[in-house]
Amino acid sequence: MAAQTRYSNVAIVLHWTIAFLIIGLIIFGLLMTNPDMPNRFALYQLHKSFGILVLLLSIFRLVWRLFHKTPSLPNDMEKWEVFAAKFTHLAFYGIMIGMPLLGWAMVSASPLPIPTELFWTVPWPDLPFIPEGEQLEETFKFLHSNIGKLTIGLIVLHFGAAMKHHFVNKDNVFVRMMPWTRVRD
Ligand code: HEM
Ligand code: HEM
Repeated sequence: MAAQTRYSNVAIVLHWTIAFLIIGLIIFGLLMTNPDMPNRFALYQLHKSFGILVLLLSIFRLVWRLFHKTPSLPNDMEKWEVFAAKFTHLAFYGIMIGMPLLGWAMVSASPLPIPTELFWTVPWPDLPFIPEGEQLEETFKFLHSNIGKLTIGLIVLHFGAAMKHHFVNKDNVFVRMMPWTRVRD
């Protein structure tokens, strides 16, 4: 069987949809926590709605990934580069699922009775096994906020690596994750 040269359409669509949503959620999250921001209640609801959407898409993506092959990395990559790529991808899967869970746990622990309603239509329950408590809410908030900031660093690294592959190494690594492109021979 010929080696796989590009990601499947499903993998590409999920990668870019989730990437776009996560970048948006980070910017949005940082903006909405500014006390001077108007309409903060609506912004929080929107942040929670898109965050849960990321959770559902990411669970589907992870399951999909476990049952489908992906193209292998170029042979000329250094050992540490292969490690860094695999580590970053694994960390991203953890973030794609862990960040929404931490956000959900945070609002579940909050003693304030603020309901979550996805896109102003679907009522979303609190996590049943999380007890209410200000201290616990603060712990989840700390983790959600700091892992969110750490994610910015990982995205910069990941973007930089993709650009290096494309412009310096001139290999297929970037192109094979892009829609509507053909990989170089
Ligand atoms: C991948 C998904 C998510 C990402 C990347 C993300 C990212 C962020 C970021 C960067 C902040 C700003 C933190 C700060 O400035 O201290 C934030 C705040 C917040 N997020 Fe998320 N979030 C996600 C999902 C969720 C979900 C699913 C919920 C709830 C169901 C949620 C609830 C919140 C809340 C309530 C805050 C405000 C915390 C505060 O008042 O300090 N987030 N989020
Ligand atoms: C900033 C723009 C981004 C660019 C240019 C980009 C580019 C790429 C490329 C070229 C690959 C394929 C690597 C390979 O073939 O081995 C890839 C894989 C991946 N990217 Fe991104 N990406 C971006 C943003 C993101 C974001 C925000 C996330 C999630 C937080 C993400 C998560 C992943 C994951 C998990 C993989 C591994 C896919 C797999 O093998 O299952 N990417 N990305």
